[in-house]
Amino acid sequence: MKRMALGWFVNFMPPAWRTPWAGTDVADWADGRFYVEVARALERARLDFVVLEDSSVVPQNHGGSARTEFMVTTKAPKNDPLPLAGAIAAATTHLGIVTTMSTSLYPPAHLARLQASLDVLSRGRAGWNVVTSFEEQAAQNVGLDTLWEHDQRYDRADEFVDLTQRLWRSTRDGTPVEHAGRFFTATGRFDAPRPPQGSPVLCQAGGSPRGLDFAARHAEVVVAVPQGVEAMARYRRDLRERRERAGLDPDACRVLFMVTPVVGETDAEARARHERMWAPTDWNLLRKLVFASNTAEIDFARFDLDEPVPADATTNGAQSLLEQLKVRTRGSSLRAAFAQDGLAESLPLVGTPETVADRMQEAMDVVGGDGFLFFHGGGGLLSRRYLTDVLDGIVPELQRRGLAQREYAPGTFRDKLATA
Ligand SMILES: Cc1cc2nc3c(=O)[nH]c(=O)nc-3n(C[C@H](O)[C@H](O)[C@H](O)COP(=O)(O)O)c2cc1C
Repeated sequence: MKRMALGWFVNFMPPAWRTPWAGTDVADWADGRFYVEVARALERARLDFVVLEDSSVVPQNHGGSARTEFMVTTKAPKNDPLPLAGAIAAATTHLGIVTTMSTSLYPPAHLARLQASLDVLSRGRAGWNVVTSFEEQAAQNVGLDTLWEHDQRYDRADEFVDLTQRLWRSTRDGTPVEHAGRFFTATGRFDAPRPPQGSPVLCQAGGSPRGLDFAARHAEVVVAVPQGVEAMARYRRDLRERRERAGLDPDACRVLFMVTPVVGETDAEARARHERMWAPTDWNLLRKLVFASNTAEIDFARFDLDEPVPADATTNGAQSLLEQLKVRTRGSSLRAAFAQDGLAESLPLVGTPETVADRMQEAMDVVGGDGFLFFHGGGGLLSRRYLTDVLDGIVPELQRRGLAQREYAPGTFRDKLATA
């Protein structure tokens, strides 16, 4: 079996603050030092990359105000990931650094220049998590009246990515860019350093049919959260078929599934920790309601917790979470679905490092997937203790089995990833 590609998804937000292991980071988190330390820990464990998530507003979908968001900190407060990417670049040598930037909020030449600069600063380790944004307020904060409709955001993103690729190419061959497209225009010489990789590694997380088409066309790494091995296999097959139909090599795109393992010294201890972690306490339920509202951009406070999500609920936000919750609550209830896991995991991974490694290996055997993206539930939850569980427990177990790399291959982020 080939080795897995492994990444970690972090939100530049206050780390764990409701545990006895909160330390002092809750006061200092915005200076980035905690997250630079996280990146160094990921490099010590030989992970392939870190993804720095982003969204730029304090959402107010739950109950129509920001009050509950600040009570549970799923999306805010948050700091901008770009300066952090520069600090991580200076503090690490091998780790890929994937920064989230939105095609709806940045102008293409501005984004292309920032990514080219990050690729130079990191000596060929930049990645771009291409998102289209789904927050109405985010659009208004950059001077737009409203956000484009879901599929149109991807039409614009297609043209945006094509244009940025041409801008990066022009740093190599010096050709002025002349572009008059449907959504963007650009002209003249582009003043940016030549990125060592030519262009950043493109990462994406399409969940809807239109989003999947976009990911299939552009992404080299796809991160996704279909739930259960069958859904994971279906997702990967679908994406690979879309690539084939577009005349692209399916193997040139890696699909990584998001997971939040819970480990213990025994399986029973891990199960007890897992149960405590997601127990249906008032605080946990509120956290899930706020997270779901602010991801799907609709107010879940309107729904009855003891009923399924109404089948006719729709959104102009991220469609996949809403659809997943409809499926998971059919014949059941939101309350039951919220008590199962962190809402953003493909597989339940609960047990000793050996048990968890077994499950990961079995899933890859069935799905034919390419690896995993570790994540600990948004803001307010990540701790050094959790990092240690994964990086000093699970990863060495995967390494012993030849399923994770023990050393980095030479070259750029893209070169290293090609060995997975
Ligand atoms: C693992 C993962 C990470 C994501 N990271 C971000 C992010 O940092 N910022 C953001 O605006 N959207 C993020 N998204 C949302 C996706 O870009 C996308 O909008 C979502 O998966 C829904 O798919 P759709 O746009 O095709 O409906 C992420 C989604 C997933 C599954």
